[in-house]
Amino acid sequence: MQNLHGMDLLTLGELTPADVSTVLERATAQKQTRALTRRVPTMTDKSAALIFMKPSMRTRVSFELACVDLGIHPVVLGAGDAFSRNESIHDTVKVLERYVECIVIRTFAQADVEQIAEHSSVPVVNALTDDFHPCQVLADLLTIREHKGHIEGLTLAYVGDGNNMANTLMIGGALTGMHVNIASPQGFEPRADVVSTAVDLAARHGTGAVIHVMRSPHEAVAGADVVVTDTWASMGQEAEHAQRAAAFAGYQVTEALMAEAAEGAIFMHCLPAHRGEEVTNEVIDAPYSVVFDEAENRLHVQRAWLSLVV
Ligand code: CP
Ligand code: NVA
Repeated sequence: MQNLHGMDLLTLGELTPADVSTVLERATAQKQTRALTRRVPTMTDKSAALIFMKPSMRTRVSFELACVDLGIHPVVLGAGDAFSRNESIHDTVKVLERYVECIVIRTFAQADVEQIAEHSSVPVVNALTDDFHPCQVLADLLTIREHKGHIEGLTLAYVGDGNNMANTLMIGGALTGMHVNIASPQGFEPRADVVSTAVDLAARHGTGAVIHVMRSPHEAVAGADVVVTDTWASMGQEAEHAQRAAAFAGYQVTEALMAEAAEGAIFMHCLPAHRGEEVTNEVIDAPYSVVFDEAENRLHVQRAWLSLVV
C-alpha cells in the first residue's frame, strides 16, 4: 500500500498505478464496512474546506458525507464566500490552512487549483475544473472494476466533447492499462497536450494503454467494453448550447451504437445527463447502464482519498 499522506489530487496524472490501486482497494474495503465504520468516525480532530465556484450536486453531497463519515468537519463555501471581494488566491489559502486540514475546490481554471496547491501546506483536491475531473474518474475506475472484474486490457470508448471528462479518462486509462478511444467532432477534440501527457504516462508506467483520438463514434465503440459520454455543453458553456447541439449531431449514444460495443459492455455517464441529447432514455435506463453505481462510488473513492491524505 502506498503512503499518500499529504498528497494533492490535481489532474490524476500525479498518481502512479500503485497509488490508484491503493485508493481503489481502500474504497472497496470502506464500501463494504461503511455501515459499521460511519458510526465510529476516526478523524474528529480534522476539518476540510469544500469550495464550489461552480454548481454541484453529487460532488457536494458525496464530499460532505465522506467527511462526516470520517469525522472530518466539512465547511462548504460558495462563490460569495471564498475569493470574494477580490481576495487573492495566496491570501485565501494562507487563511484557510490555519483552519482546515484539506482544501477541496471546484472552479474554472486548472491554473487556479495548481496555484492553490503551490501555496497550500494542506492537501488540495480538484473537485472539477474546466480541464480535469479526477474524483469522477477514480469513481469510474472503481465502477469499471466492480462490473468487469478488472480494468487492465479493457477498452473504453468516450463519445462526445473532448472536455474535462475526456481528458481525465485518458489519464485514468494510461495509469491502469485500459485502452481509451475518444470520438469527437472536428473542433471538439481533447487538447493535444493532454493526449500527449496520457500517452507519456502510459509509456512511463509501462501499462500498455493505447490512447486513440478519432472522429467516428462507430470506430471508437467497436468492440469496446465500456461506453462513456458526457454533456455537450459543460458548465460555463451554456451560451453555446444550440451551436454545440448542432455540432454533436451523430454523437448521441443510442441502442444502435451500444450494439456495436463488445458483448456485456457497460454504459457510463458522470451525470447530470441530458436525456435525448448525448444519450437516449433507452440507453441510460438499460440494464447495462451503471450510472447510479458510478454516482454512489463518488462517495466511496473520495472517502478513501480523504482517509489516505488528510
Ligand atoms: N458528476 C458530478 O461531478 O456531478 P455534480 O456536478 O453534480 O457534482
Ligand atoms: N463536463 C461536465 C462535467 C460535469 C460533472 C462539466 O464540466 O460541466
